[in-house]
Amino acid sequence: MSTANPNSQALFERGLEVLVEGVSSASRGPAAFGTTPRYMSHGQGTRLFDVDGKEYIDWMMAFGALPLGHAHPAVVETVTREVARGTHFATALEVEVEVAEILCGLLDPVDKVRFANTGTEACMAAFRLARGLTGRRKIIKFEGHYHGWSDAVLLNTNPQAPTALGHRNAPVRIPDSSGILEEAWLDTLVVPWNDFQALERVMENHGREAACVVTEGVMANMGVIPPKAGYLNRMQELCRETGALFYLDETVTGFRLAPGGAAELYGLTPDIVTYGKALGGGFPMAAIGGRDEIMEGLEWGKVLHFGTHNAGRLALHATKAMLQTMLANDKAGFDRLAELGQKMTAEIQAIAAGCNRHGLICQGVNSMFQIFFTDLEEVADYRDFCGHVDRLKFRDFALRLFDKGIYMNPSATLHSLSSIVHSEDEIAITAQAIAEVLEEMP
Ligand SMILES: Cc1ncc(COP(=O)(O)O)c(C=O)c1O
Repeated sequence: MSTANPNSQALFERGLEVLVEGVSSASRGPAAFGTTPRYMSHGQGTRLFDVDGKEYIDWMMAFGALPLGHAHPAVVETVTREVARGTHFATALEVEVEVAEILCGLLDPVDKVRFANTGTEACMAAFRLARGLTGRRKIIKFEGHYHGWSDAVLLNTNPQAPTALGHRNAPVRIPDSSGILEEAWLDTLVVPWNDFQALERVMENHGREAACVVTEGVMANMGVIPPKAGYLNRMQELCRETGALFYLDETVTGFRLAPGGAAELYGLTPDIVTYGKALGGGFPMAAIGGRDEIMEGLEWGKVLHFGTHNAGRLALHATKAMLQTMLANDKAGFDRLAELGQKMTAEIQAIAAGCNRHGLICQGVNSMFQIFFTDLEEVADYRDFCGHVDRLKFRDFALRLFDKGIYMNPSATLHSLSSIVHSEDEIAITAQAIAEVLEEMP
């Protein structure tokens, strides 16, 4: 690494002096890479370019924030025009109303939105809103689901040794950070996902005390794990029976799996939804949405939600450009996103099926996919992941792909994503590189 990528190495050494682990989020540094990260200088379309002059086909796409790829002309033009007219006013804006109108017209469960900057902020506001509206204390969340790094829900989001997990009927709750007071998460219950029985049990025992049940639409923080048929619908039904709000966290799946996200794909009508990542077209933008009677809870004097940078005008213009581009020609961008992701997934599945040197599978939903080195035929939940997925092997695999000009996130818990600008040629190049790496790996 150090000799092959001298400029990244030099920056890493400087970075280590002044930045914690040389980076600003552990997922970008040695904790994820096990070695020097590649420092990127610029991006164009599907390509990332590093400070050593190397070019990569990017399948990470800023953790899903770039459905249009890098430096898409629609985003660049609007932001270049608007930045010269002022960066941020923290006032009411016309573009804020325009973007909200697009969202409320597009999203079935959403009459109103409130903008925030990041998924974590939107989720924090959503949990407070759920508690404020219902007057109930408990939050029901699922093992392996991530809803940002706030204290109440940062439980069981990292892979653990299977022996640490406890029985499925009463999982051990494991905070993922020091410095979180037990009081912060005592009212958060953790349940295995994709398990109908566990869901029925927790709803029978605690549904009437729960402010909300929160779920990702597709489990996207333990690779890619789709919901079992009817599972999310059953969850919604049990919420309606018990009065717990059904909260679908679409931070990853929103504006990615379908125009209306996982809610549309799986026929759900959540009470609360949060969006982030893809929404901003590369800028920090997030939103909380719901029906009028839910969203009125955020009115002044009820449940508080603030933010100096909420509804930043540049981010809103980028969001508008992303939405208009994806929705043009009868929402063709979403079809293309799904088609490319499905093709890449199918290619990798074919390679995996023919590989007799390693046990691996590839799971995907539309534009999202992940490779698991595993002895299982399917990874169906967090426990499968903890017990059966070889994360170090995946990291070795991803780092070898870097050397062939393919950029996938080296963490097995994350996933890869198509953008609308990926091409069939790039899918073929990526498949070829994957086949070669599998041959080369011990
Ligand atoms: C499902 C989900 N919710 C919330 C978040 C937090 O979003 P952010 O990183 O923008 O704070 C993430 C981030 O990965 C996520 O995957």
